Amino acid sequence: MTDLTFLGIESSCDDTAAAVVRAVGGRAEILASVVEGQTALHAAYGGVVPEIAARAHAERLDLCVEAALAQAGLGLSDLDGIAVTAGPGLIGGVLSGVMLAKGLASATGLPLIGVNHLAGHALTPRLTDGLAFPFLMLLVSGGHCQFLIAHSADRFERLGGTIDDAPGEAFDKTAKLLGLPQPGGPAVQAEAALGDARRFAFPRPLLDRPGCDMSFSGLKTALLRARDALIAEQGGLTVQDRRDLCAGFQRAVAEVLAEKTRRALTIYAALDPAQPALAVAGGVAANTLIRAMLETVCVKEGVRFLAPPLRLCTDNAAMIAWAGIERFRSGARDGMDLVARPRWPLDATAAPMIGSGKKGAKA
Ligand code: KG4
Ligand code: ZN
Repeated sequence: MTDLTFLGIESSCDDTAAAVVRAVGGRAEILASVVEGQTALHAAYGGVVPEIAARAHAERLDLCVEAALAQAGLGLSDLDGIAVTAGPGLIGGVLSGVMLAKGLASATGLPLIGVNHLAGHALTPRLTDGLAFPFLMLLVSGGHCQFLIAHSADRFERLGGTIDDAPGEAFDKTAKLLGLPQPGGPAVQAEAALGDARRFAFPRPLLDRPGCDMSFSGLKTALLRARDALIAEQGGLTVQDRRDLCAGFQRAVAEVLAEKTRRALTIYAALDPAQPALAVAGGVAANTLIRAMLETVCVKEGVRFLAPPLRLCTDNAAMIAWAGIERFRSGARDGMDLVARPRWPLDATAAPMIGSGKKGAKA
């Protein structure tokens, strides 16, 4: 395998990111990774505002690319290719990235590779650990929730996913309902650590149905009802009420994810993989209870459990550069006709996902 150095560009949601990744043989090294979050810009609106996100990407993306190249100590002429997220995501942001990448590719003559953002997440365990295909991937973030079998760099099989909210979205809404700060996941986790998960009987949606599909919006409604009942009864929430609500909610999400993971592993096991592995990606994979429960399922099933470091679990451009390298190695090339796509399912044969999350299309 020839050595390759790629620039990666990511702007599909609310992180403006650029990175430089070098692949030497089968190993990879992240030479630079710059991620500029936009949390402060959207804070007043309770969610990502697409127009604000797009403008911030357009203003900051070239500076991030410059910073990443400087961090790597490289110039454009040292690169072998440019990889850019071409979807799915908020279209204004994706367009900013694709246009910058096209400009750079046409000015330098470097190959251009459009990358599916979800493939970026899904291929991360190969960047960090050289994981062999086929592996099972659980993608759990603010905008996504799905089980994928990664067969190769460009073949992914979707086993199931959320039919409504993504778990991160449910954590964020829960935090909002309880007056906790955004992003909700870490705040809910911190409260839950001091709470009693058994006090409230929250549902375990879709566990009674076969398959790997999940649902999280009913859970949020159950939490809202429990909150309102307490307020009606006591005139407000005590500190302990809030902790117990968080603990009950978190445990319900974790149990649903663990049980659905067990089912997904059964389907995956039928492939008889030589080195069976489950990898997780997305911000929700940072949750310690969810991680621990998934790991327990894997240990029981005799499957390796892999969680990349958090900075590579959440949105970043190193995963895009790496996915670009993998696609380039398998012969993919894009031209100036590369389009930015708001929707781009990884597995075109799977049933389409329903709706669109607050952070854009779900798949
Ligand atoms: O992958 P990510 O950074 O962005 C996308 O959604 O693409 O994920 C962010 C999501 C947020 O919804 C956040 O609340 C959630 O991940 N999150 C967590 C935790 N840390 C972040 N959810 C549960 N527990 C956590 N510790
Ligand atoms: Zn993402």
